[in-house]
Amino acid sequence: MHRPWKALLRLTTGLVALVALGGMVTPVSAAAADQSRAGTRQYSADDDYTAVWSRADALKLRQDRTNTAPRVSPDFPVMSDKVWVWDTWPLTRLNTKTATYKGWHVIFSLTAPRTVPFGDRHWHAKIGYFYSRDAKSWKYGGDLFPAGTSFGSREWAGSAALVGNKVYSYYTASGRDNGGVDPNDPLQRLAMATGQIQADKDKVWFTGFRNHRIIAEADGKMYQTMEQSQAGPIIYAFRDPFVFRDPRDGKVHLLFEGNTAGVAGTYQCSERDIGDVPPGHEVPEDAKYYTGNIGLATAEDDSLEKWRLQPPLLSANCVNQQTERPHLVIRGGKYYLFTISHKFTFAPGLNGWDGLYGFVGPSLRSDYKPLNGSALVLGNPEDAPTQQYSHYVMPNGLVESFIDTVPTADGGTRFGGTLARTLVVSLRGDTTRLAGELDYGFIP
Ligand code: FRU
Repeated sequence: MHRPWKALLRLTTGLVALVALGGMVTPVSAAAADQSRAGTRQYSADDDYTAVWSRADALKLRQDRTNTAPRVSPDFPVMSDKVWVWDTWPLTRLNTKTATYKGWHVIFSLTAPRTVPFGDRHWHAKIGYFYSRDAKSWKYGGDLFPAGTSFGSREWAGSAALVGNKVYSYYTASGRDNGGVDPNDPLQRLAMATGQIQADKDKVWFTGFRNHRIIAEADGKMYQTMEQSQAGPIIYAFRDPFVFRDPRDGKVHLLFEGNTAGVAGTYQCSERDIGDVPPGHEVPEDAKYYTGNIGLATAEDDSLEKWRLQPPLLSANCVNQQTERPHLVIRGGKYYLFTISHKFTFAPGLNGWDGLYGFVGPSLRSDYKPLNGSALVLGNPEDAPTQQYSHYVMPNGLVESFIDTVPTADGGTRFGGTLARTLVVSLRGDTTRLAGELDYGFIP
């Protein structure tokens, strides 16, 4: 993906422009050259440059007070006794800020009936919605889409943007169309539908959402297809669209989770993927299967219905097989790119935690640098490794997630399927810090 000559061309053009403007050009020192790794280079969304999360970065993964989530109490309250709730996203504006409608806060969640075993919920997933006056006592409104209208055999994570009273809902059409409950069907496509939000003083509801369309499929050149992945052992990904407008280019984009294209097992770990590792670090053969990436698609026009696949923004080749639910916070001219990942999805020879990871750069496509050196922003504590997951950072630094599986005092476990306490993360330059813990499911 990396074409150094393009960057060189841009740099040269930049220098010429500076000279033409009579600007002083200081020679590039070694320290300044190093800065390129520090996320200072900008690219346009259409460029062919993919940042990397290297093995050297991931070898720096450490937990401390600033990045370890507090223990989830096994006495947590449950927001719905009807449905399990996991991946959740607020109704937002295209600028990623949460939106309210007629005084109502609205969130969307993957849901499945509580009668389904917790571990099987993925195969029954539907997008449900909740609304609230105080942004923390949520009322379940039911399914977002009319029955039988969505693509795939289940609905997986997404995002939803409010423009006027029109809601653009992006989601993952998981499984083939009308495939029923089939955990062996890994197909994933990006899909959308639009509807209208309605509200009175008592409730929120939606109309429309009958015009579903598939907007992106893996192309096998930039993003691995399901067929290409089948020779390998990893969990296939082409999912989790996150919609936003980039203030820099004014275009609307989708981030999503993909895998590097090519038949599983043929990828060769590059020097860039490995990075500056300590002497003696060997890359196990099977690391080649771990090819998660953060993909990009760009809207062709204002209908937000036609999308063009672009090269990935960031790859985790030979580092991690899953960079799930990528999302973005733009603050102070910096682009904070977040993703969630699991302990078990790191490539052999690396150790991480279930939790939130992040990168920072000067533009949407840039030479992203891992936050805190390693990319770890919030990991689960060692003694509760799967207590919560699917973190989502809002522009105000509040981080919502769901409660997964929590150890109990008697040595058992309690399944969550409900929102965890919202955490506060402070973002400063290329470092983050856990700064507080708020109410359960507080999403203002
Ligand atoms: C993260 C995730 C998403 C996916 C959904 C499926 O928790 O794996 O990537 O859309 O859950 O249930």
